[in-house]
Amino acid sequence: MNMDAGKTLEGVGKVGFVGAGNMAQAIGGALLRTGLLKASNIYVSSPSNTNKGPWIQFGTHTTTENGCVVENSDVIFLAMKPIYLDAALMDIKNTLKQPVSNKLFVSLLAGVPLKVLEEKIHRIVPDARVIRVMPNTPVLVGAGCSVFSCGTTATKKDAEVVKMMLSTGGICQEISESLIDAAGGLSGCGPAYVYLIIEALSDGAVKMGVPRAMATQFASQTVLGAAKMVLETGKHPGQLKDEVCSPGGTTICGIHALEKGGVRSTLMEAVEAATKRAAELGKNK
Ligand SMILES: NC(=O)c1ccc[n+]([C@@H]2O[C@H](COP(=O)([O-])OP(=O)(O)OC[C@H]3O[C@@H](n4cnc5c(N)ncnc54)[C@H](OP(=O)(O)O)[C@@H]3O)[C@@H](O)[C@H]2O)c1
Repeated sequence: MNMDAGKTLEGVGKVGFVGAGNMAQAIGGALLRTGLLKASNIYVSSPSNTNKGPWIQFGTHTTTENGCVVENSDVIFLAMKPIYLDAALMDIKNTLKQPVSNKLFVSLLAGVPLKVLEEKIHRIVPDARVIRVMPNTPVLVGAGCSVFSCGTTATKKDAEVVKMMLSTGGICQEISESLIDAAGGLSGCGPAYVYLIIEALSDGAVKMGVPRAMATQFASQTVLGAAKMVLETGKHPGQLKDEVCSPGGTTICGIHALEKGGVRSTLMEAVEAATKRAAELGKNK
């Protein structure tokens, strides 16, 4: 690893990712795409080479030693699945060459509470500040929705830094930790719900004779357009729905079919199930 890369981002310095997978790549990609960080100031670790390809292409430093990432970074994203948190922290402990201080840890882990994170991280870096983020993968294309909550010793400046970094990939808002599992059950998991909806809409059009590629493009653009209408007009989604439904027209027939299939209740249950699962994952830690 190159240890002498200089600082380019005032107030942030060097950024590390412990875990190199989807979410780390989405955030790292956004930081690089917007020019907020240079690749030479990003350090990434993971046990295998499975996810290192894109990082090597970006030109970031890569390693198998988590301690090396922590030593070289001012802000460290914990980007492994929650079940690997203990193993990842153990590896930090075992591969740190010297004690470190003045580090900001940013956890992306679904469900793991700040109290648990602080307790575990402080065993290795006693003065670490901790922030818990719930991002989503559309960060990669600049359309992400991220929320975060600050730990007991995180500063206002830390919150600003995290907000600035996550805002390179979309919107980012600080919320109470009591809401973070539910927000994650919506926005963290939500892209998967919407992919399923897009696929199903596309299937419907294919069933009615539209070629697949065209159907998927139209379905995706329709979801994007509807979301922009809600965000940009500020109108209630129910009002926008009413505006599209002419009396005795085609759309109200489609809406009736959706209501018969229980689409509202099913989507509410999806958010509820994901929120409960996040709480379970946190309890297991
Ligand atoms: N994906 C999402 O949409 C999303 C949304 C919100 C939050 N999150 C959270 O983001 C975190 C990462 O999710 P993901 O989807 O990016 O997972 P992922 O694609 O499976 O990536 C996980 C990464 O962690 C690495 N890893 C495993 N054990 C490790 C260890 N002991 N030390 C260091 N790295 C280790 C893996 O290494 P290898 O490359 O060697 O396998 C892999 O690079 C999760 O905690 C999840 O809850 C994800």
